[in-house]
Amino acid sequence: MILLNPGPVNVSERVRQALMRPDICHRESEFSDLLGRIQQKLLTAFVPGAEADYIAVVLTGSGTAAVESAVMSCLPTGKRMLVLNNGVYGERLSNMIGLHRLGVSELKSEWHIKPDPERVRLALRQHPEVHAVAMVHHETTTGLINPIKEIAEVVDSQNRVFVVDSVSGLGGEAIDIAGSHIYMVAGTAGKCIQGFPGVSFVLLRKGFLERMRGYPKRSWYLHMTHYVDDQGKGTVPFTPAVQVYYAFEEALDELLEEGVANRTQRYRRTATRIRERMGQLGVKALLPPESQSNTITAFHLPSGVTYASLHDQLKDRGYVIYAGQGQLESKIFRIANMGALTEPHIQGFLTAFEQVLAGAAVHT
Ligand SMILES: Cc1ncc(COP(=O)(O)O)c(C=O)c1O
Repeated sequence: MILLNPGPVNVSERVRQALMRPDICHRESEFSDLLGRIQQKLLTAFVPGAEADYIAVVLTGSGTAAVESAVMSCLPTGKRMLVLNNGVYGERLSNMIGLHRLGVSELKSEWHIKPDPERVRLALRQHPEVHAVAMVHHETTTGLINPIKEIAEVVDSQNRVFVVDSVSGLGGEAIDIAGSHIYMVAGTAGKCIQGFPGVSFVLLRKGFLERMRGYPKRSWYLHMTHYVDDQGKGTVPFTPAVQVYYAFEEALDELLEEGVANRTQRYRRTATRIRERMGQLGVKALLPPESQSNTITAFHLPSGVTYASLHDQLKDRGYVIYAGQGQLESKIFRIANMGALTEPHIQGFLTAFEQVLAGAAVHT
């Protein structure tokens, strides 16, 4: 099955085979070595030249585990988080903080609008109780890329902590984490890094670590400094998904061999190809080109076509597409182009799509 959903993604045979390596105990040196290599490769890939300034904290759990660990570990008692919310995952950040009964304020934008850095600056000037700002890098809801660099500049100039959910961004989009002084970035193995779901991570700026140690512990499983301390000793606090770590290392090797910039360009080319063909077929994208990511395109459902029939007919032909969420559920469909997809996969999908569309035209 060809997966055109935003994770889990199709992986290469090389990554799949890595699952078959020998069983090991996570309290032995073999696992310490594996963990150390994964941490180093994450730093090489995502904070090149500034590896000494960051720690890669690796967790067993999906992307949400990394995001939740970051947000609940970065607030001192009595301080607030400001969430820039323009989609389902921004909304989830707010809900997460609210659930832990931590203070949260929101700057909301429409789902197709990027947050305005000047509004953020004003909010931070007016609200000294805001300690940290959280934003999603790539809003998977619509495929919108948020202005990380511009917001990071404002947050840094106002001496606040910037926490970024880049679960669907890292490996697929350019982001200068170190140059923008971002304190925490959450990512996952199972999307643009082209590994399996089940392992996620936070890139944490070392300078922030000592401050974090003074903040209350709010979760047994996700308390971040617990992971940092254990990783310093070559281990993890809880039983890790060892085999998924093997595959994660292999996926990171593939990423480094391809080069992060080359991967983002490959994704960009694939997305452009899909968008151009859809345009020729009269299927309209939800967002203008300047807001679109490299790996997801949200399209308006063609008139007279329901998501269910489009999905089912494409699935019968071997392609899995993705529904809209929330207010867009009945209006759009999404095509993701993350993962080990080849030119024939994309060509095959476009041909199948065209056939399904032609069939729908006959029946209306
Ligand atoms: C931006 C973003 N954040 C967080 C998540 C949650 O990740 P997971 O489903 O791996 O927990 C997703 C999942 O698609 C996402 O796209």
